[in-house]
Amino acid sequence: MNTTVTRSLAALALGLFVTSPSQAQDAGKVDFEKQILPILKESCFKCHEKEHEENGKVKKPKGGLRLDGAAAIIKGGKEYPDENVVAGKPDASWLVKTMALPESDDLAMPPEGKGDRITPANIDLIKKWITEGANFGAWKGVE
Ligand code: HEC
Repeated sequence: MNTTVTRSLAALALGLFVTSPSQAQDAGKVDFEKQILPILKESCFKCHEKEHEENGKVKKPKGGLRLDGAAAIIKGGKEYPDENVVAGKPDASWLVKTMALPESDDLAMPPEGKGDRITPANIDLIKKWITEGANFGAWKGVE
């Protein structure tokens, strides 16, 4: 085998098996901070942020789920701890499963009447991000 072929094969093998954070910036991969975070900010943050005061009232994250930090997103909420985002498994990840439920479902997110449905294109994007390993890159968010 000539060296060029050997080198490309080695590069390919690395690309397939190495999943260090730097690989998250690979061209073609979904970028959490640029592409996913804005969706969560827009549609989910008002109910799923760290406990804080608003107009003199303490606001707790609904369902015990915070979506404003990487560690919190992985930790998940009360009903589905550790199953909010399961890397590699979008069908096991409640973050995106709840978005895809029919609006009438009790667990549909955002809840009925509390915001626009997430578009199918954005749901696919989030699923792709989870399939690719749910990598947050350098983003940590609120600890
Ligand atoms: C208006 C408030 C509100 C908004 C906006 C909202 N949620 Fe929720 N969420 C809730 C409430 C309340 C619960 C607790 C379960 C219930 O009562 O339905 C919950 C629970 C959840 C759970 C289950 C957590 C667990 O483990 O128990 C997930 C996952 C979830 N939300 C994801 C989302 C996502 C993703 C978005 C944005 C697309 C979102 N939510 C937007 C109010 C909200």
